[in-house]
Amino acid sequence: MTDQVHQTVPNSSPRKETDPGQRVWTDARLLGHDELDATHKEFYEVVFRMLTCNENTALTTLLDFEEHAQAHFWEEEDWMRETAFPAAQCHADEHRKVLASLAEVKHAVSTNVADQRLVQRFADHLFAWFPGHADYMDSALSTWLNKKRFGAKPVVFKRLAVA
Ligand SMILES: [Fe+2]
Ligand SMILES: [Fe+2]
Repeated sequence: MTDQVHQTVPNSSPRKETDPGQRVWTDARLLGHDELDATHKEFYEVVFRMLTCNENTALTTLLDFEEHAQAHFWEEEDWMRETAFPAAQCHADEHRKVLASLAEVKHAVSTNVADQRLVQRFADHLFAWFPGHADYMDSALSTWLNKKRFGAKPVVFKRLAVA
């Protein structure tokens, strides 16, 4: 099961594993679309709770992620449909792969085939997957939506990290 989950987690990110800095939200992830950015910030919070779950909270954090992911992906797919976004199917296919992996993990944990370690590993895969998906697909969607709404590309102001 663990290997199956590993293989079905989308891998559009060039990074195979996450370092701790990839597991928290930063302004570097802003794409210039307020609703999209708020959803992505929530993604980091929800996935971090999965990463730090224990045996008592594993399934709950997984169900919270399921709720988040469905709303997150459906929101983006609704925008793509409403605005006739050209690469919608490719983008939606990546979302479907995440939901398929989620279903596998949920089944394994809810039937006690796997424990919190699989949830934590899934969270780590999601943190590795997200930057590639956001930089390539969600970023293109943000630019598209802003062009439709304002007739211009987004200008993104990012706070600089202080060392
Ligand atoms: Fe997204
Ligand atoms: Fe997306």
